[in-house]
Amino acid sequence: MIRLGVNVDHVATLRQARGTTYPDPVAAALDAIRAGADQITVHLREDRRHIQDADITRLIDTIDVPLNLEMAAAEEIIAIACRVKPASATLVPERREELTTEGGLDVAGNQKAIGDAVGRLKEAGIRVSLFIDPECAQVDASVEAGADAIELHTGAYCDAPDARAAAAELERLRIATQHAAKGTLEICAGHGLNLDNTATVIEALPEVVEYNIGHAIIARAVIVGMEQAVGEMKRLLVR
Ligand code: PXP
Repeated sequence: MIRLGVNVDHVATLRQARGTTYPDPVAAALDAIRAGADQITVHLREDRRHIQDADITRLIDTIDVPLNLEMAAAEEIIAIACRVKPASATLVPERREELTTEGGLDVAGNQKAIGDAVGRLKEAGIRVSLFIDPECAQVDASVEAGADAIELHTGAYCDAPDARAAAAELERLRIATQHAAKGTLEICAGHGLNLDNTATVIEALPEVVEYNIGHAIIARAVIVGMEQAVGEMKRLLVR
């Protein structure tokens, strides 16, 4: 069965916007789990714009599904991960001025640094995934870096300006997925997925075992509630 990782960062975004104690991303995570989330995903950004350090420890103490920590391969964050030991860590590129994670990690161009970060996290008992653009060279570099999994960036597909560009991006995802499936990496995907575009991706990429979805679920939850928003996405994945 395909796993659904629900990213609750944007519950914290709403809280940080006013410096209140609500809404609570941990409470949202518990609602998501009740509705079928197989994993909770959060991004502890270096600028702490949404998720805070205390959220991570509370999540680890509270939830009974794996916690996937998205993070930059930065010394401070690696040290936190090795201390709190989430079930998995997904290394992502991070720029302070970006609205969200804009591209995949250039593993091939930073082989030594990423390999070292993967090694340290794995030594702490953490499963490590690398968030990459759908390129065979990045898949190969991820194997070389010792990753357990890759997460393919679906953003270029989801944001494609027209049907032709979308078809080309889906084909890139398909080629990278099939290339990765020849080896032992677990294949995950995410970014920009919503109720309109996810079914097409699932159908095109049967080798993908896990999707991490955040903004669209939280945006929908504002209107219909967390359990319905997660339930709708979960039904797409198990269909
Ligand atoms: N996967 C990764 C690695 C991400 O960085 C993000 C964004 O935090 C997501 C998935 C979720 O993306 P979205 O919020 O667009 O669903």
